[in-house]
Amino acid sequence: MPRVWTAMAALILGIDTSCDDTSAAVVADGKEIRSNIVSSQENIHRKYGGIVPELASRRHIEMIWPVVDEALRSAETKLDLLSAIAVCHGPGLIGSLLVGCSFAKAVSFARDIPLVSVNHLEGHIFSCFPGVEQPDFPFLSLIVSGGHTSLYRVDGFGRYKELGRTRDDAAGEAYDKVAKLLGLGYPGGPAIDSHAQQGNPGAIDFPRPFLPESLDFSFSGLKTAVANYLKYGHPVSVNDICASFQQSVVDVLVKKTSWALRKERIKRLAVSGGVAANSGLRRALGRLAAEEETEMFIPPLQLCTDNAVMIAAAGYHHYMMRKTVGLDLNPVAYLPLS
Ligand code: KG4
Ligand code: ZN
Repeated sequence: MPRVWTAMAALILGIDTSCDDTSAAVVADGKEIRSNIVSSQENIHRKYGGIVPELASRRHIEMIWPVVDEALRSAETKLDLLSAIAVCHGPGLIGSLLVGCSFAKAVSFARDIPLVSVNHLEGHIFSCFPGVEQPDFPFLSLIVSGGHTSLYRVDGFGRYKELGRTRDDAAGEAYDKVAKLLGLGYPGGPAIDSHAQQGNPGAIDFPRPFLPESLDFSFSGLKTAVANYLKYGHPVSVNDICASFQQSVVDVLVKKTSWALRKERIKRLAVSGGVAANSGLRRALGRLAAEEETEMFIPPLQLCTDNAVMIAAAGYHHYMMRKTVGLDLNPVAYLPLS
C-alpha cells in the first residue's frame, strides 16, 4: 500500500554506518527517541590502535540487520509503520557507508518506504534536537569529533554557513594520536579525559594554536609537541601530560567559539561530536556560555559520539520537506555540508 503523509507522528528509522559503529534508531517527530541501538566495533579495532576500514565494513554487514531489528523491536514498531528511513550517505569510510546505504535502499524498495539521505555533519548538528528543548535559529554549531572540527552558523534547516574548520587533524584525531603515543589504547578521548581529571593542567605549557584572524583550527602541531615532549622533556606523570594536552585543546576550542559567537552576534550555541563528551570541554563551554549570556545546547554523552538518533532527527526535516531520494543514492566519502 503506498504511504501517505499524515498528521500522525512521523516515525523515522535512522541508520548510520559512516565509521566503526553500526547504529539504528527510531525517532518520532524529530525529537522523541523511541530507540537507540549502537553496536560498537571498539574491540575489533583496539589492537590496531585505530580503525581498519576493511574490518569495519565487514562487521557492518554482519551487524546491520540485527541492529535495525533491535531498534524496531525496542521502539515497539515495525517496518510497515515507519514514515521514512533516513540513512547517512557521507562523509565517512566509503566501504562502511556503502553497507548502510545499500541496506536502506533495499528495505525502502522492498517495503515501499520513503528514503531520505543525511550528511553525517548535519546529523551531529541535529543531535541536540531530540529532548525537551531545541535551539531556535540562528545558532552557532561547534562540531568536534574524530573526523571533524568545525564551526557553523545555522540559520534554519538546510541553511548552514561554515565559519571555520580544521586545517589538519580534527580534535578527536589529536586525542586518539596522543593516546597512542602514551600507550592508552583506542579510542583515546575517554582515556585521556579520565587521566586528565587526576593531573595538573598547568604542568606543561603545550602550544595553543589560535591562528589569529581565523576561525579555523589546527591540532597537528600540538600532537607533535606532545611527541617531542615525550622524547626530550622532563619526565612527568601521564596524568599531567593528559591534563596539559587537554587544557590546550579546550582553550583553543573555547576561544574560537567565543570569537565566533561575538562575530556572528549569536546568543545560542549547540555543541556536538564525540569530543563534546569531554568533561573538561563541557565545563569550560558551560562557563563561556554563562559569561557570554548564551544559551548552550549539548547532547547527553550517548548522543555526542556517533549514533543514528541524530540521523533520524535530521532526516525528519528532509522528510517534512519532501526531500526524498531514489535508489540511485550513492555514498560519498568526502561530502561537504553545503
Ligand atoms: O563523533 P564521533 O563518535 O565520530 C566521528 O564522527 O568522528 O567521535 C569520535 C571521537 C574519537 O576521536 C574519540 O576519541 C573522541 O570522539 N571522544 C572523546 C571523548 N569521547 C570520545 N574525546 C575527548 N574526550 C572524551 N570524553
Ligand atoms: Zn560523527
